[in-house]
Amino acid sequence: MDGQPLLQVTDLKQHFRMNKRFTVKAVNGVSFDIREGETYGLVGESGSGKSTIGRSIIRLYKPTSGKVTFEGVDISGPLKEREQVLLRTKMQMIFQDPMASLNPRKKVIDLIAQGLDIHKLYKTKEERKEKVYRILDKVGLSREHANRYAHQFSGGQRQRIGIARALIMEPKLIIADEAISALDVSIQAQVVNLMKDIQEETNTAFLFIAHDLSMVKYISDRIGVLHLGYLVETGTTHEIFENPVHPYTKSLLSAIPLANPVKEKDRVAIPYDYATSGIDYSKGIQHDLTSTHKVLATPEELTAWTNG
Ligand SMILES: Nc1ncnc2c1ncn2[C@@H]1O[C@H](COP(=O)(O)OP(=O)(O)OP(=O)(O)O)[C@@H](O)[C@H]1O
Ligand SMILES: [Mg+2]
Repeated sequence: MDGQPLLQVTDLKQHFRMNKRFTVKAVNGVSFDIREGETYGLVGESGSGKSTIGRSIIRLYKPTSGKVTFEGVDISGPLKEREQVLLRTKMQMIFQDPMASLNPRKKVIDLIAQGLDIHKLYKTKEERKEKVYRILDKVGLSREHANRYAHQFSGGQRQRIGIARALIMEPKLIIADEAISALDVSIQAQVVNLMKDIQEETNTAFLFIAHDLSMVKYISDRIGVLHLGYLVETGTTHEIFENPVHPYTKSLLSAIPLANPVKEKDRVAIPYDYATSGIDYSKGIQHDLTSTHKVLATPEELTAWTNG
């Protein structure tokens, strides 16, 4: 754990002011970091703020407060051109619905080369084509696919196009927001394995946002658990799955169906209700159980949870 992290998020807040009286506090002081080549999984129920965090990092939103640094550069304030370019090239996003994010009137070659076109990252048409071919190969599509249109592809293939679009920029960080959720279960594993292979080859870091905890467990090195815009627990995948401490994390994990039918029959879902939990998230104390395992709790709560 030495060296500076690739991405460092410190006390990030993202509030949406709806009207004079009402503000949606989507993200409430979240801190975590991602190291080069690492996959950080972000989990939590619908509306917990996962997508908002991804969007704030990549600056689809301007953070309400807090700090985000990427390769040591502050990208949370007003962006100079150099920082804009850093963000738009070295950080890429893969979306949930590749159909909605791929222009149906464009050929695959032009969809994949879009980032190269915008940032003028080739000298000749031939070089552009070669770069696209190389990426097509990497994501398991063929050169013949280059001249077809996105709507001619299956969901899994379209997501490969989405990955190719990101990958061609040689990003340091890919934010994958529910990137496999819309795919058939059989295709999900293929696409996740593709991401893993790519990561091994390129050392790209991933912020992997997903509902499906078994996929998150499979792909992530570390995990952050979000609830109501607060990061309630973060740790290595092993720490979160083998020694969950926060009651919300325990509840979330207890909801995962087990593959073993005998164990599944005895699985007990642990309910959790913030309103009656007696826990005050706004106290915001992060306890270090280990150097990587942190929990949002007061000292008293933590003692009660770990002893009980
Ligand atoms: N642009 C916006 N304007 C106002 N409120 C928003 C905006 N974006 C998100 N929110 C609200 O912020 C909260 C967090 O939303 P977000 O989309 O980040 O959740 P999520 O964890 O990604 O959920 P899901 O699992 O359903 O994708 C929700 O209450 C949502 O309604
Ligand atoms: Mg979301």
